[in-house]
Amino acid sequence: LLQRGLADLHASTDEPALKAWNTRYFGPTGEVPAATKKVATLPPPERKGYGQEANRVKEALSQAYEQSLATVKEAALLASLNANPLDVTLPGRRGPLGRPHIASRVLRNIYSVFADMGFQVYRSREVEDDLTNFELLNMPPHHPARDMWDTFHTTTPGVILRTHTSPGQIHVMREMVPNPIRVILPGMVYRYEQVTTRSEMQFHQVEGLVVGEGITMADLKGTITSFARRMFGQERQIRIRSSYFPFTEPSIEVDIDWPKEDPNADRLTKGTGWLEIMGAGMIHPTVLRNGGYDPDRVSGFAFGMGPQRITMLQYAIDDIRQFWSNDLRFLRQF
Ligand code: PHE
Repeated sequence: LLQRGLADLHASTDEPALKAWNTRYFGPTGEVPAATKKVATLPPPERKGYGQEANRVKEALSQAYEQSLATVKEAALLASLNANPLDVTLPGRRGPLGRPHIASRVLRNIYSVFADMGFQVYRSREVEDDLTNFELLNMPPHHPARDMWDTFHTTTPGVILRTHTSPGQIHVMREMVPNPIRVILPGMVYRYEQVTTRSEMQFHQVEGLVVGEGITMADLKGTITSFARRMFGQERQIRIRSSYFPFTEPSIEVDIDWPKEDPNADRLTKGTGWLEIMGAGMIHPTVLRNGGYDPDRVSGFAFGMGPQRITMLQYAIDDIRQFWSNDLRFLRQF
């Protein structure tokens, strides 16, 4: 049995053949169990010798089987490696790494410039009421200045999407009164407008609000000048033009000059040399009062800018819709 078993085993050269061999010799009706069982039919004196011999054969065959199986498996593995060569020393492929959106990068830049001047970031709601977005900012119902902001209304009367970050002024003041305030309020605003390359129905604004004793227009000018220089270069000059907003008095618009060395300067400034970056002004006494402050004791200034507009100018982006279109070809440029 041993000789025959070994000869059969060596004739089995792959895994299925070896498995078949195993069944034939070691299966429930296999030859090895059959031979072992024979011990019972022998006269007692012969049983011990036969049993020992049977065990020896069984051991030898099962060891030879395990060995053949291992050899065949290893050969199969080697063959498959040779068929599909795999260079385990090659460096791995790097997965794509995300990065902050250009709009987020610009916002963070603005935060850090204002943080250095002692401003805190205050977040205010995007779903507002008419009262806070307009009335408390000195625009009663039917005030013609409301036309400056085309508004998204909801199906709930009086509930709207904020058209600017200025209603945040009211929330901050009511929370902080009677303490002095120095905050910026960044976030998304919404306008019911035709979407074109130049106007989107949603975009970011960053509002600034300072309230305290003895705050003057000079503080506003100084703050904006520092911001403009940190953001756009130490050489920047600002220019102030008279303007109108219902919630500031006096109201201004702020321009910065653009480096003449920049070949885009003429195109950006349309030949004037100046770029508009924000609206601003001294907080209207009515607004201070609506925020809980006494306009005879404190004063303040506010400003509001649109970072997307500024970013478009800086990077010569000619279509504002790129910001929220999630086109990787656009996003990867920054
Ligand atoms: N809220 C104004 C706008 O959306 C900007 C502004 C803010 C003007 C604060 C003055 C003061 O155009």
